[in-house]
Amino acid sequence: MTPDTSAIMEAYRSAGQAQVFAFYDRLSPEARRRLVSEAAEVDLGEVDRLVRTLVRSAGAHSLDLEGLVPAPYERLPSSGGDASAWARARAVGEEALRSGRVAAFTVAGGQGTRLGYDEPKGTYPVTPVRHHCLFQVFAEKLLAAGNRYGKPLHWFIMTSHQNHAATEAFFLEHRCFGLDPSRVHFFRQGRMPAVDFSGKILLESQGSLALSPDGHGGSLRALARSGALDLMASEGIDTLSYFQVDNPLVRCIDASFIGWHLARGSEMSSKTVPKAYPEEKLGHFCIQRGKLVVIEYSDLPVDLQRERDPVSGALRYEAGSIAIHVIDREFVRRMAEGPGGLPFHRADKKIATVDAAGADVKPSKANGVKFELFVFDALPFARNPVVVETARADDFSPVKNADGVDSPATCRADQLRQFARWLRASGVGVATDPSGKPNFSLEVSPLFGYDDETFKESWSRLAPKPEVVDGLYLGNTLK
Ligand code: UTP
Repeated sequence: MTPDTSAIMEAYRSAGQAQVFAFYDRLSPEARRRLVSEAAEVDLGEVDRLVRTLVRSAGAHSLDLEGLVPAPYERLPSSGGDASAWARARAVGEEALRSGRVAAFTVAGGQGTRLGYDEPKGTYPVTPVRHHCLFQVFAEKLLAAGNRYGKPLHWFIMTSHQNHAATEAFFLEHRCFGLDPSRVHFFRQGRMPAVDFSGKILLESQGSLALSPDGHGGSLRALARSGALDLMASEGIDTLSYFQVDNPLVRCIDASFIGWHLARGSEMSSKTVPKAYPEEKLGHFCIQRGKLVVIEYSDLPVDLQRERDPVSGALRYEAGSIAIHVIDREFVRRMAEGPGGLPFHRADKKIATVDAAGADVKPSKANGVKFELFVFDALPFARNPVVVETARADDFSPVKNADGVDSPATCRADQLRQFARWLRASGVGVATDPSGKPNFSLEVSPLFGYDDETFKESWSRLAPKPEVVDGLYLGNTLK
């Protein structure tokens, strides 16, 4: 046993976590090395603090709602916002894109358990005709934006330990979907050990810890630790357009949103949509003690979620969070490297583990706790955070569940509605149901058009125009 190994084992013993090495003697030399290296990754002091505050004293705290009020936000011109302020914001954003200050950033380290898909979620096929995957949709949007603003974009993609190699291999296999590989950067997020309800770190097998990704909020420290922030600085990038891997409708690069962020001197900006109904599972943008916060749907009492403005009848807490942000590079550094940092959240989960004899256990109910960081917890630390409205139909249709709401089927229908709207706005008759969904399949590549404006430009240039029939695919006009 090396001195390092004995020091690590001793640290676990004195932290009351000696069970981690219960099967050490049975392991092969290679498996021992792996276990020790996983154990060395864990910050035992952090785990101890989390066990004391989140596991042992669970239920002791309820969320502090004192002084909470709904957050104001910049309304779209179509819902009463100032059209000239939006035009100014867009000009600022476009200038930033032309000068190459902006990079795209996707968090793709999640486990996608609800979807029940074993590959990296970004490889999931989502489009209606060609069945292109999420990563391809984003790649084409970024290519198109790079072409439009005359500056190819850098794309930072956060993976997890579990899906890193598979994600990189997928991009290699697909030649980065036409993007310059030197501008596509992958880095892994951190991971955290799961504990049982008494605070003991769980083993996933005799020779490995039950480790899982540290949440999308782990992106801030991973950006710093991986060197991504330094790379951005050397490339003159100071602004990150942040989006999740599961939402193909997202405007990956939205000049107006970027412009609002820059013009306001914001360190972290957010998009909002009005909640569709009171119990919709979106976080709520609120102000508390002068700070912008997101209160999760599970934390805001239902009577507050149902409160309505007596005059307009709109929900008081209507500003829903859709996990789209613009973030300042140096703000990320401050959050990652400065004191304090984001708070961890507790999630009770079924965690595969081993029993005292070392036999595998597949629990049928929650048997432990995972710790996760949420990126929106950075908002109260940001200077001048701005919340900007967006049209749900053009920005948000996530694939979370295998069936029902936010599933591949609802997302495909939302894509079809969007393509049909663009065609109609270009003067083409498309038969749809009352929800605007065409009763046939069609698909528009982002390289043809990624919003009503770019679609219209490409469509007007197209000669002869194709017949709008089932299976129509409008692809790259640049080829
Ligand atoms: P979700 O909260 O939907 O979690 O992630 P998930 O892990 O993908 O799915 P479930 O809950 O297991 O079904 C929202 C976004 O945050 C990313 C996901 O990849 C997705 O883009 N994420 C989440 C990370 O990058 N890392 C994490 O640790 C968690």
